[in-house]
Amino acid sequence: MSTPAAPPYYQRHIFFCLNQRSNGENCCADHGAQAAFDHCKARVKAEGLAGVGQVRVNKSGCLDRCAGAPVAVVYPEGTWYSYVDTSDIDEIIEAHLKNGQVVERLLLPPDVGR
Ligand code: FES
Repeated sequence: MSTPAAPPYYQRHIFFCLNQRSNGENCCADHGAQAAFDHCKARVKAEGLAGVGQVRVNKSGCLDRCAGAPVAVVYPEGTWYSYVDTSDIDEIIEAHLKNGQVVERLLLPPDVGR
């Protein structure tokens, strides 16, 4: 019999691409990614959701899905989002990070790449 898996260190982990390109190609930094990241981090903390066994908000480099910029991905589900403003981030926090419900209207289509 195998040992049961340990609970995950974080219940949910969201990564925001903050990549800036200088060659004119589409990138998350040109679409408000830093502000969205800052908003998410502050709100998750303010609501007491941050920390071990809960939610972690991290920045990332390019996730290679730049055509859908700005993008963020939530694990363990591996759900990809393309957002517009902080109200979209609030919805992702409320529905997905708190309650595990995917926000269908913000899903990044599966064929969106670089
Ligand atoms: S610049 Fe954000 S996914 Fe590539």
